[in-house]
Amino acid sequence: MKFRTLLMAASMLSVASVARADDIKEVQMLHWWTSGGEAAALNVLKQDLAKQGFTWKDVPVAGGGGGAAMTTLKALVAAGNPPTASQILGYYAMDYADAGKLGDITSLATKEGWDKAVPTALQKFTTHDGKWGAVPVNIHSVNWIWLNKAVMDKIGGTEPKSFDEFVALLGKAKAAGVIPLALGGQPWQEATMFDSIVASTGGIDFYKKAFVDLDETALKSDTMKKSFDNLAKLRDYLDPNYAGRDWNLATAMVIKGDALVQVMGDWAKGEFKAAKKEAGKDFLCYRFPGTDGVVLYNTDMFAMFDVAADRKAAQLALADATMSLSFQSAFNVVKGSVPARMDVPDTDFDLCGKKGIADVKKANASGNFVGSMAQNYAQPPAIATAYSDVVTKFLHGEIKTSDSAVAELVKSINAAK
Ligand code: GAL
Repeated sequence: MKFRTLLMAASMLSVASVARADDIKEVQMLHWWTSGGEAAALNVLKQDLAKQGFTWKDVPVAGGGGGAAMTTLKALVAAGNPPTASQILGYYAMDYADAGKLGDITSLATKEGWDKAVPTALQKFTTHDGKWGAVPVNIHSVNWIWLNKAVMDKIGGTEPKSFDEFVALLGKAKAAGVIPLALGGQPWQEATMFDSIVASTGGIDFYKKAFVDLDETALKSDTMKKSFDNLAKLRDYLDPNYAGRDWNLATAMVIKGDALVQVMGDWAKGEFKAAKKEAGKDFLCYRFPGTDGVVLYNTDMFAMFDVAADRKAAQLALADATMSLSFQSAFNVVKGSVPARMDVPDTDFDLCGKKGIADVKKANASGNFVGSMAQNYAQPPAIATAYSDVVTKFLHGEIKTSDSAVAELVKSINAAK
């Protein structure tokens, strides 16, 4: 028997050992993966489970960033009707674990040694009191920029290494009559971009002080003001129709060459892949200028709810499939993210994926692997929402100056604590 077949047989055995005759062979999954790239990635999982005889009950709740999905999930859980599993981010999972709403898949985790494969930083979110209640599907990071290669060549652009060089590059695109920056003007997208601006403007230690420690001096510092000033500079490079635009439509502008660049997490790469575009040839990926060596992560997890006994075998099968080496590679190649396990080879990944994998390893070893504030990996949802509200109000002119933005930031964060 080949090694992979052996591995599969071993993992199916672990599921079979808890299976009972009257088990319901269905996985209900709540998620917000409805764009082309996201749906293609989810298909990898559906197919893996179908091979094992499980049917898929899709519970999609559209809306990038998952805000709407989290509202639906809350209602289902409150009604005592949680799905088998739900896509979830950071502190949301911790809240459900604290409330005793998650199941316990520790025996599978222990048997398969997940604690040795998954970065310790992530285990804070997947475990509660040492018990596993969620599985990490991927590691995304938000500090990326995605560029159309043909447009870049046309304007004679090169990789920007600092924020100022980035602004200069956007200026070149503008002069050439191309939309410089494709942005979706929704709070979560704007805040996701601002994460990178803060890390670039102040460096990663400043980012940590401000967003991980919520140090008030950092939050109202001149460096934070400068971060807002830098955000304001980007306004000049947006098209007039950016308000409310979905993130994947902004990616499509770059794919088509209507815009030069999008600042977005690496789920954007899933859209390039779905459009059959090739990294290095059709599009370019760079770290957000000034953040090389830093990974501002957001990991999609599947939260395993405390479901009825006859649904637990299906839940374990899902957890098992999600954590398999082959799935972590196949899924993340399509999704644009990198594996949540550190022992998955980068063989099947394109050059952006290979860089992403190497970056995560380096950042994890050097303390530069830090949670995204916008994506609920630095603070609980109430604080993350307060943050994105301020960023949006500032970008759209409701908050007029960087001075008032930092004052509002401190006030809103304190109120949300
Ligand atoms: C993020 C999520 C990604 C991607 C993105 C856009 O929050 O982690 O997987 O789906 O939203 O919907």
